Amino acid sequence: MSTARFPEGFIWGVSTSAYQIEGASGEDGKGPSIWDAFPGGRDGDPACDHYRRYPEDVRLMRDLGMTAYRFSVSWSRVLPEGAGRRNDLGLDFYDRLVDELLGAGITPYATLYHWDLPQALEDRGGWTSRDTAQRFADYARVTHERLGDRVDTWFTLNEPWVAAFIGHGSGVHAPGRRSAADAFVAAHHMLLAHGLGAEALRSSGASRVGVVLNLSPVLTPAQLGDFAVEPSEEDAEAVARIDTLLNRQFVEPILRGRHPGDLLPVIEREAGLGHVHDGDLDVIGRPIDLLGVNYYTPVVVRAQPSAAADPAFPGSEGILFCSVPTAVTAMGWPIMPGGLSLVLRRLTREYPDTELMITENGADFVDVVTGDGIHDVDRTSYLEEHLRVLRASLDEGARVRGYLVWSLLDCVEWADGYQRKFGLVHVDFATQRRRLKDSALWYRDVIKRNGLGVDRPKRPTLETVAARAQVSRATVSRVVNGEASVSPEVRAAVLRAVQELGYVPNAAARSLVTRRANAVALILSPPQPGGEALVSAVVQYVTSLLEGAGKQIVLMLADTAESQRRIVRHVETHQVDGVVLVLPEGAGPLAERLARTEVPVVLLGRPAIASLVPYVDVDNTGGARAATAYLLDQGRRQLGIICGPTDLVAVQDRLTGHRDALHQAGLHPITAPAGLDRESGAAAARRLMGDVPGLDAVLATSDQLAIGALRAARQAGRRVPDDLAIVGFGDIDAASATTPALTTVRVPVSEQALALARLLLSRLDGRHTGSVVLPTHLVVRETT
Ligand code: FCB
Repeated sequence: MSTARFPEGFIWGVSTSAYQIEGASGEDGKGPSIWDAFPGGRDGDPACDHYRRYPEDVRLMRDLGMTAYRFSVSWSRVLPEGAGRRNDLGLDFYDRLVDELLGAGITPYATLYHWDLPQALEDRGGWTSRDTAQRFADYARVTHERLGDRVDTWFTLNEPWVAAFIGHGSGVHAPGRRSAADAFVAAHHMLLAHGLGAEALRSSGASRVGVVLNLSPVLTPAQLGDFAVEPSEEDAEAVARIDTLLNRQFVEPILRGRHPGDLLPVIEREAGLGHVHDGDLDVIGRPIDLLGVNYYTPVVVRAQPSAAADPAFPGSEGILFCSVPTAVTAMGWPIMPGGLSLVLRRLTREYPDTELMITENGADFVDVVTGDGIHDVDRTSYLEEHLRVLRASLDEGARVRGYLVWSLLDCVEWADGYQRKFGLVHVDFATQRRRLKDSALWYRDVIKRNGLGVDRPKRPTLETVAARAQVSRATVSRVVNGEASVSPEVRAAVLRAVQELGYVPNAAARSLVTRRANAVALILSPPQPGGEALVSAVVQYVTSLLEGAGKQIVLMLADTAESQRRIVRHVETHQVDGVVLVLPEGAGPLAERLARTEVPVVLLGRPAIASLVPYVDVDNTGGARAATAYLLDQGRRQLGIICGPTDLVAVQDRLTGHRDALHQAGLHPITAPAGLDRESGAAAARRLMGDVPGLDAVLATSDQLAIGALRAARQAGRRVPDDLAIVGFGDIDAASATTPALTTVRVPVSEQALALARLLLSRLDGRHTGSVVLPTHLVVRETT
């Protein structure tokens, strides 16, 4: 068999979860879940409207050739109060879904708990109450009664570590508790729910029962480059402690029926042991048929005596969670396909009899919708690299039966909302239109040939070569740099991989070892009011991505004429390989000067002469047009525009958008000029209110100006939105904190920052990438 082929009958599919895609949160008798009630949640949102559009989604999967679909059942759709009264309409939905899947030749895999506990149970103590575990078993039985004749494989829980420790420790997820004791007690009750639920499923006749865990190798920063590096004694202790909290806390009770010995004292100290009853571990540890493994990224730590405990890892004092200079996804998660191999090797070694399935693997990247498709090269190569590693793991004896991508659709990423894009299929949330990304088409081909293509991945990286050759990145670097410290066999394997993949080593890869001063200038000027978040995201992404590629970042401030001269000299004399220019007040002469040097320059924001330098911008005109059209739709007719300084290209674009939409409606724009701050917004609003009798709406070219207008309206006794609607632009943090909260046009922040860093990386690699314009979205709040 060629190395790229997978075993006969290998299962290919995708995973999703109820809360993230279904929508219809209050329909057909569904009760609220903790995510509907959670402040960071998306109550009432249609999400992907999968509740109605499931036939289309199943068709998509069928057309892509998938043979498996893992979905989750919403507990409160089945039992609106979590216990007792059964809601048949809710069960009907899953009934229809399962029939649709089977009709399309797709095997359903049902997860019973993907984090959406019925709120009614939370009100009675939630996972900190032992009773919840028993209620889970009842719910499992009720659901199996209805679907068990057609669903063979059942997963009890999804990622109990996240549900317990992010939900109850750090409080970032619902129910938002922040208590180490609650987190440990919840974790135990979830394990118990797994045990009781598995028992209930089996006694109802389920043929295969499993559980899904998030497993990550825990490494030191040095091991990220080379797994073989021996950590210091302190670092090894830090690694072991986090490994116990994250992985062994769940794997060992389930697969061995016991707690890791080093965990009990931690639980006892933080939560006591009163919640662990005699016999619980016997229930938890009954054999399962299948372990679902979700793998995304490793966890990187080292010892640092002064570090306080991370609330998601109670007991982690003295340990630093490191951000590492390596390639990351848009979530900021380090990309390390080899981590999957570490997880699988360990499971195969320690639990050779357990059948495995990769139940989630995937990546969030910024997608750009173009006229001819969504070319998500990064997502495709992430998946391809992980599949190559998986293929090699099968050869080593890992008993992995299938692979499910997270996820079918772009969807609601929990507390992060819609900004995260994990889908093979793009969803336009305004229209619910689905579009296949290139990664979906690539996956279809993988499934069709039951393996990876012989053709090269589009953009082979050092990581791809390392995965193919089964060595670390550092080893590849050593070979590429001609260092002698590599055995002839390893050298041959690396060179073979380099040749097969068509890998062209770039300066960044070479510098990993030679540590040449490969520098990039990040040029900033003090941010405008409201622009701080964007500038700090740019600093973060540019630093992480470019440092990951071996570049040193030189921060330079362009605030005076003298500093600008210094910058030009610095660049002209080639002391840097590239320049990222972030000048909120417009690119101006500095960009022009730098564009004339031979050094690649990229810019945040469109310059006045668009062909000057490649840039990353957002669709200001489209956003302004949409905001205006929305007000017109609502029947507003006397619209005034508060306009910031028109020497800023973004302001010009926004003004154009507002004007276009008004002209189209046969109306004439009335504009009041303003500066940048709230006070000037208030002054402009006062002028508009005085000059335009019957003024019923104000559009401001920034949130700061709109916040000022809001204040002026209040002082003038105008009721917002009844008398006067107000819309801002930018969706800065303050926009949602005003009373009433501000309707505004959201400008993607981290996406811009990431796109900017990527743009420079491509240019440094000698690729001629065009400029990027990202979409904006109207966010309707209370001022309209
Ligand atoms: C996993 C979750 C899944 C999704 C992905 C990105 O932890 O199981 O719902 O959020 O991460």
